[in-house]
Amino acid sequence: MKRDFIKTDVVIVGSGVAGLFAALCIPNHKEVLVITKEKLDECDSFLAQGGVCVLKDISDFSSFFEDTMKAGHFENDPEAVRVMIESSPEIIQTLVDLGVEFDTNVNGGYDYTREGAHRQNRILHHKDETGKEITENLLAIAMTRKNITFVTRTTMIDLIEKDNLCYGIVCEDEYGEMGAIIARDIILATGGIGGLFKNSTNFPHITGDAFALSLKHGVELKDMNYIQIHPTTLYSKSEGRRFLISESVRGEGAILLNENGERFTDELQPRDVVTNAIVEEMKKFGTDHIYLTLPNMTSEEAKKRFPNIFEECMAEGYDITKDKVPVTPAQHYMMGGVKTDINGATSMRHLYAVGETACNGVHGKNRLASNSLLESLVFAKRAADLISSDKEKKDGNIPPVDLDSYPEKSVREKEFRDLIMNEIKRKDEAFYAKWCNDES
Ligand code: SIN
Repeated sequence: MKRDFIKTDVVIVGSGVAGLFAALCIPNHKEVLVITKEKLDECDSFLAQGGVCVLKDISDFSSFFEDTMKAGHFENDPEAVRVMIESSPEIIQTLVDLGVEFDTNVNGGYDYTREGAHRQNRILHHKDETGKEITENLLAIAMTRKNITFVTRTTMIDLIEKDNLCYGIVCEDEYGEMGAIIARDIILATGGIGGLFKNSTNFPHITGDAFALSLKHGVELKDMNYIQIHPTTLYSKSEGRRFLISESVRGEGAILLNENGERFTDELQPRDVVTNAIVEEMKKFGTDHIYLTLPNMTSEEAKKRFPNIFEECMAEGYDITKDKVPVTPAQHYMMGGVKTDINGATSMRHLYAVGETACNGVHGKNRLASNSLLESLVFAKRAADLISSDKEKKDGNIPPVDLDSYPEKSVREKEFRDLIMNEIKRKDEAFYAKWCNDES
């Protein structure tokens, strides 16, 4: 995009479920440009295994609400939780209408599964690849929309703003060429920060660019130290992306064992509680992993229900139904992020944040399993609806953009990383020392 200055109605940074659904919910008469850092299928939404929560029956409202609040240590925004749960049946119906398939049981009804801290089975799933099923469908439809254009392997490196009003973004393509995208509305959907961690379930290029730029430009952030460590990822000696062993495997009966082969915790407590129990056990035995096994299923059953996880474990030499599979906690999700209201609006005018990038308070201190895809969809739609209904004339005084003023990639990446890590450290030194420090 050599020295390009592109103009569009809406620019969306990120092509995960939140970015794609926002794009699809913007009316056809508006031009939408979606930029993504790598290839279109290299976003964390593709990796989501467990499923997507839904209010399957109104009688479940208060338990679903309480489970979400309790997992979040009651630090959640109750209004955001209410909106998410109440919107869930309509959102799921939209997905089904768009062609998304969820697994059914022998009676033809949905096969709701369960994960930690859910007192009811209320999670819809597509085998163990729910994120892939949803994202592929949304992507296929978005590709057919004439008003949506995709630009891949392109990274946002700055926000164009003046007087707390956002005019667009500066980005850099894979060849190091810079360009500016001027838009009426800008949606940040860059995911979380897993790429900044030694071990994470996220793709390595998911490095919290939206957070760094928010810090740089004074866009309000919230709860940047509320970072979820998933209890069970497949243990390997190498660092980098950890393969997730979905909590739904525990929901379907998997147990955790310590070095002595003993159970040591209730496997279906909230994620942070199970992670802490595992860390204690690893300390006790001086190990860097514990074990998971699924003794109540046959290999054939496990292969059918969890094909992806079964194969990945087999590739490492473990039959999950017979062997003890070594697992270890790893960074998984960002509950904090760019502070938004329940319509995705940030503290900067015309700048929105959705999905894992946004912090509207719905997850509190610790996200309830399988609320992430739901939250992304519900609040992405609300942001798109708000943008569509905003008829106010925007000030057209675009500030000058000097594309020669940006440092080279390695300098910029270090600057972004330092901004984010310092913020996490400032908010919670103990968490930083335990999980973020490269020396730890
Ligand atoms: C999992 O399947 O354990 C992860 C799903 C989620 O993050 O909610």
